[in-house]
Amino acid sequence: MEKIRDREIISKINTLRKEKNAVILAHYYQTPEIQDLADFIGDSLQLSQEAAKTDASIIVFSGVHFMAETAKIINPRKKVVLPDLNAGCSLADSCPPDKFEKFINDNPGHTVITYINCSAEIKALSDIVCTSSNAEKIIHSIPKEKPIIFAPDVNLGKYLQKKTGRKMLLWTGVCIVHEAFSKEKLINISLLHPEAKIIAHPESEEIILQTAAFIGSTSAMISYVKNDPAREFIVATEAGILHQMQKEAPGKLLIPAPANEDNTCACSECAFMKVNTLEKLYLCLKNEKPEIIVPEEIRLKALKPIERMLEISSAKYSFTDGFSFSN
Ligand code: 13P
Ligand code: SF4
Repeated sequence: MEKIRDREIISKINTLRKEKNAVILAHYYQTPEIQDLADFIGDSLQLSQEAAKTDASIIVFSGVHFMAETAKIINPRKKVVLPDLNAGCSLADSCPPDKFEKFINDNPGHTVITYINCSAEIKALSDIVCTSSNAEKIIHSIPKEKPIIFAPDVNLGKYLQKKTGRKMLLWTGVCIVHEAFSKEKLINISLLHPEAKIIAHPESEEIILQTAAFIGSTSAMISYVKNDPAREFIVATEAGILHQMQKEAPGKLLIPAPANEDNTCACSECAFMKVNTLEKLYLCLKNEKPEIIVPEEIRLKALKPIERMLEISSAKYSFTDGFSFSN
């Protein structure tokens, strides 16, 4: 019954997306049905690159609010809709603009790098934005003598300090999903699957990252599993990724990393990502709402650090000369 209903909704979505010249962008943490119907699935960087080059009139962003907001900042003349406005992000919430502005003012002279998981107001206070797949490259683009503020994710910040050797002033925000992995349970699962390689997203705590054979963004984790000769992997990130990972690496055993007892899910699911459903996606395409609106003053300020990121991330850019913030 459920499947018949899903098929009906998918058929309606397919008709509407053609009629309205809409593109459906989805993150790897969305439900399998949404991933399978999307025009494009990717990590945060790939999704913003896709949003930057789309010629669709409507962008249906099946992800969380900061992702849809980034697409709107890049595309002010396009309509950007999100299936459910409650699709927030604990990391974005952990960095309120008034407190972050004070933090910057209390520490003058720093280059402000913000992880894309933050609000438009926070981006507007930043020099440059980064994602988990380009953060090292972005940090290397800042002249060595320039001190750096990094926000909002403290785990990613600590990991990047180690990788780049740059000491940074860190904001102490966290992702509730990546904080929930249990080291003890991870060890127990590793004992049951001694051949399995642990791979982790850099938002995870240091104690989890220390156990990982590979650390990377969601898309980098998928590529790793696809190309590595190992047959078994324990995956420490949001469990939605397993759907696309399994499609790209059929025949490999993928085990979601276990979360702590007090987590609502035995594996790790992002409740924000999962508020989007097939039905809500259909309704938002049909009604063209809820729509993402960003006040123009904030948008213009937030656009610059996003454009810098996109420029540095493009194949053309060589960061050996450092990046200038003169504009
Ligand atoms: P990626 O950019 O690696 O897809 O990560 C997004 C995210 O929200 C991780 O929790
Ligand atoms: Fe935010 Fe964490 Fe969910 Fe990613 S997994 S969207 S960082 S709450």
